[in-house]
Amino acid sequence: MSDRIHTLSGYFHEYQKSVADPENFWARVADSFHWKKRWDNVLDWNFEGPDVKWFVNGKLNITENILERHLFTIGDRPAIVWEPNDPTEEGRTLTYRQLHAEVCRFSNVLHEKGVQKGDKVIIYMPMVPEAAVAMLACARVGAIHSVVFAGFSSNALADRINDCEAKVVLTSDGNFRGKKKIPVKGVVDEALDNSSSVETVIVYQRTEQEVTMKEGRDFWWHDVISGVATEHQAVETDSEDTLFILYTSGSTGKPKGVVHTCGGYMVYAKYTFENVFQYNPGDVYWCTADIGWITGHSYIVYGPLLSGATSIMFEGVPTFPDAGRFWAIVDKYKVNQFYTAPTAIRALQAYGTEPIAPYSLDSLKVLGSVGEPINEEAWHWYHTHIGKTKCPIVDTWWQTETGGIMVSPLAGITPTKPAYATLPLPGIQLAIMDTEGKELIGNSVEGNLCVKFPWPGMIRTTYGDHDRCKQTYFSAYKGMYFTGDGVKRDHDGYYRILGRVDDVINVSGHRMGTAEVENAINEHPLVVESAVVGYPHQVKGQGIYAYVICDMTNRTEQNLVNEIKDTVTKIIGPIAKPDKIQIVPGLPKTRSGKIMRRILRKVAEGSMDNLGDTSTLLDPEVVDRIIEGRIE
Ligand code: WTA
Repeated sequence: MSDRIHTLSGYFHEYQKSVADPENFWARVADSFHWKKRWDNVLDWNFEGPDVKWFVNGKLNITENILERHLFTIGDRPAIVWEPNDPTEEGRTLTYRQLHAEVCRFSNVLHEKGVQKGDKVIIYMPMVPEAAVAMLACARVGAIHSVVFAGFSSNALADRINDCEAKVVLTSDGNFRGKKKIPVKGVVDEALDNSSSVETVIVYQRTEQEVTMKEGRDFWWHDVISGVATEHQAVETDSEDTLFILYTSGSTGKPKGVVHTCGGYMVYAKYTFENVFQYNPGDVYWCTADIGWITGHSYIVYGPLLSGATSIMFEGVPTFPDAGRFWAIVDKYKVNQFYTAPTAIRALQAYGTEPIAPYSLDSLKVLGSVGEPINEEAWHWYHTHIGKTKCPIVDTWWQTETGGIMVSPLAGITPTKPAYATLPLPGIQLAIMDTEGKELIGNSVEGNLCVKFPWPGMIRTTYGDHDRCKQTYFSAYKGMYFTGDGVKRDHDGYYRILGRVDDVINVSGHRMGTAEVENAINEHPLVVESAVVGYPHQVKGQGIYAYVICDMTNRTEQNLVNEIKDTVTKIIGPIAKPDKIQIVPGLPKTRSGKIMRRILRKVAEGSMDNLGDTSTLLDPEVVDRIIEGRIE
């Protein structure tokens, strides 16, 4: 814990050091890890390629830094504490010693199934400890995991399997979510009808629902682990070997596979975890994300476990059996740091304070927020009713691509301001750019958020398409990583994230490309064309508003709307289902055929008297028709 910052002046001091001499700064942090061979040089980089390498030629295995490292010191400390969906079912605890044994055992299974270093393994599992075991076992044998959120459809899963040519899929029979029992293996079967690379499927039994097992391809988890040794020698990986691929939405085309590597990601995940949350040994920490998202990767699994923390893993939903579930769990396990998303806070806020009343919440020391801008009202509610005004809130801004938290208060150290992510972490050199490509210097400025200098946890490439990485992140502003977010730096130099400036929308903290949703809508045979925009939504942050041109022959509008929603659910998953679908006679297009989304956004959010210049439209009348049919 030598890199822990304890005071505000300490933060400024570390920040200065990290900018003046980044290599020395990160070398010192990295020195506290176990390397099989130390690196030759700390950093090689250019943002033109981009080509970024941290801890060059260093050799390690990230799981030795999670397992062996803690075995003889805190082996009996709970590493993962699992709370099931149904509170009457007994939870489970894996100590560091037990986690070591389980990961070793499953590593041996992967070897037996022919998994080699560099092979891709898809993890499509519910929130059970085995999902974390699966991730770590992949890392231990040098395989590359790609976790796919278990709410995605078979089409979305097949796309990801095919894109990375996965050899193995790890899954479950089903998944419990609130009152529902959701099939999982069935979705995998459908996906595999459309993919050819997968040789082995291992199925963890969770719901005991009926599934089909394909002879020679599908195996039960409990069968393959039985009798397998719980010792395993971790494979040596290079700092720059890929640790995982995680698919995320962009403004164009299909989701892209963000690639993170072993060395830099490890250093960054642990450093940010300990400093942002001010983790102290023995603390119980809970992040409510799903492991299918980057937050689950960095702040349920890697960050906390690298730090030797106790990480709570929750299978269920915040409102089952009632809206007090989160708080029941906080009290049950005496959670010290609690990390969730604004959409969850807003959803619970709607139930009032009654569901909180039975719980003391007095173990809480730090509250965190992630995934989308937190509005001031939700911030105050969280601060007052959950934190009882004594817990600092860390509003953490970051992205799948950044690997870890970038801008955030350090809990209890950085003075907070509602809705502000406050200040960059050490090592993070931000720039605010105007649309002409000029950096805006000084305070009280607003523009596009970029990063000027590499940090260890950053994206290295987009899998299988390096040019896409370059075009998406490194081309908008020369020599800079462009985040896609708008930002304001206020008179105090504090950062407030304003939201995406590209065609990405953020629905309940989940990233969704408008083009991706449009493509799914267009799969419906009667859809001629569609345009999707985000609009402010009280609980979700942003909702999805779709304008659709359809062939209406023999169909009622309501039928068609429902069918389109089903199509999107089938192609992507329920999280992408539009909240509002308006059937329109046409879309506002410029003479060159470009859809003027600005107008559609304004209509969706209800600011019709503020449409701006519509004189370049091919058919301005279409706007009136759209306004007439607007859905409240
Ligand atoms: C948004 C999630 C405001 C932002 C870790 C970013 C936020 C996108 C915050 C990344 C925050 C995340 N305040 N906006 N504290 N955190 N975002 O890749 O638009 O799922 O670009 O990573 O979420 O979403 P992703």
